[in-house]
Parts: sequence; C-alpha cells; structure tokens
Amino acid sequence: MKKLMIAILMMALPALGMAAGSSIPLLSANIDLDDKESLQRGATIFVNNCLNCHSAHYMRYNRMSEDLGISESDLKAMMFTTDRVGDTMKVALDPKEAKSWFGTVPPDLTVIERFRGADWLYTYFLSFYKDDSRPFGVNNLLFKDVGMPHALTGMQGLADPIYKDVTLPDGTIIQVVDGISQPAGGSMSVPDYEESVRDLVGFMVYMAEPAKLVRYDLGWKVIAFLIFLTFLLYLLKKEYWRDIH
Ligand code: HEC
Repeated sequence: MKKLMIAILMMALPALGMAAGSSIPLLSANIDLDDKESLQRGATIFVNNCLNCHSAHYMRYNRMSEDLGISESDLKAMMFTTDRVGDTMKVALDPKEAKSWFGTVPPDLTVIERFRGADWLYTYFLSFYKDDSRPFGVNNLLFKDVGMPHALTGMQGLADPIYKDVTLPDGTIIQVVDGISQPAGGSMSVPDYEESVRDLVGFMVYMAEPAKLVRYDLGWKVIAFLIFLTFLLYLLKKEYWRDIH
C-alpha cells in the first residue's frame, strides 16, 4: 500500500511541476469574486488594453454587464462603437497581421485563467522587464522570451533586469537575469498597479467561469438555509422531548 502511494505521488510530481511551468515562485493573486467593483474595474482594463490583440469569443458584453452590474451607458463607453451589446468580445486585429507582427496569433483569452490559474496571470503582469534584445524591448521572468509587448507599461512603467553571475562547469562566467528592479515611468504607484492587476485577473477568473458568481451567491443562501433548518430542527427536538421527560 505504501509503495503504491509513493508510486502515485511520483507520477503526480512532474505534473505538478509542469503546472507551475516556471522556475520563479508565483505570487498570490488573492482574488475576491464578491467584490463587484473590483471586477468592473478589471473589465474596463481588459476591454481597453487587451482586445486590440486578443479576443474573448465566449464572453458577451451584455452578459458581463448583467453579471457585474455595469450600467448600459458605462458599457457603451467601454465598447468599440461598431459593437452591439449582444456581441461577443471580438479582436480588433486581423489574425494574419498579428501572425506577421508577433510571430504567433495572440490566443483567445476567455478561458485562459482555467489553463494558467489566477496566480500565474497575476505574476505574469508583475514580471515584465526591459530587454532590448527582444522585438518589443521587453521580456518576462515567468514567460521567457514572450512574444507579447507589455500592454500595461503606461500604468506600471518598466522594470530593469537584475543580473547575477553564474559560473559554468568550464569556468566561464555568464550573467543571467535573477530578478527585476522597481518599475519606473508609469502613471501608477506600485501598490496601485498591483491592485489594478488584481482587478484584471479577478475579471479573467470570472470570465473563465461566469457561473462561479452564481455559485458563490447560491453558496451563502444554501448555508443560511441549512443554519435556519438546524434551528427549526432543534426547536422540533425540544418540542418532542418535552412530552417524554
Ligand atoms: C499588442 C498585442 C497584445 C496586447 C495589447 C495584449 N497581448 Fe497578450 N499576447 C499577445 C501575443 C502576441 C501573445 C503570445 C505570446 C507568445 O506566445 O509568445 C500574448 C500572450 C498572452 C498571454 C499568455 C498566453 C499563454 O500562452 O498562456 C496572456 C495571459 C495574455 N497575453 C494576456 C493579455 C492581457 C490580459 C492583455 C491586456 C492587459 C494582453 N494580453 C494584451 C499580444 C498582445
């Protein structure tokens, strides 16, 4: 039995390693799906900064506005003028052009959170740094040689790489990126930017599974009902036992 457990564990370990997908530890996103205002802010960041290149083909504007309580006028202000409220989130860019610019077509983002996880996405947007050897002048600690420009540079600014010396077996010393500096040149302070990324990732968690909001809502109601039921049963029990005593 013990051997079997160990065998199962050994099989699971590489999968866990792959899920992490990188050598840097992930930061904790701490998403709160109950915070509708945060999700609304996240939706605005997403629509304004990501749909130029990415689509979210399974998300409809009107579903989003209903779920997150976004008013129709706010929704209209967020959308491209050619979009209608019943439309899904289409990409502005032609995939063929995207391929020639980026070497790859930016993936649809509707369910990307289910693949990467919230902590990965949060860490990703805090891991861009300046790298002049790359086509868009940036690289990413978590996603090495990423083909995406840093879409939120205006907000965050850009961090510089911090190097460390590594000695190879043959004695040569090379420099590798070991971390990043505080970003500079953005419109936001570090805590404000982190908060905005949390809003954005929260929205992506919601988008990957809108039913989660319903479940959250329902969860509390079910628990409240169960507590109420327990109370009723307690009264009932007292009533029965009164005659017996
Ligand atoms: C200028 C175009 C552009 C913009 C704007 C942009 N992206 Fe990207 N994104 C890309 C490209 C190209 C890739 C593919 C990178 C690769 O595979 O190397 C990518 C990759 C990604 C990935 C990784 C996908 C994976 O492989 O798991 C995520 C997540 C992502 N983008 C999220 C976003 C979000 C969120 C925004 C808005 C804040 C955004 N992107 C804005 C072009 C863009």
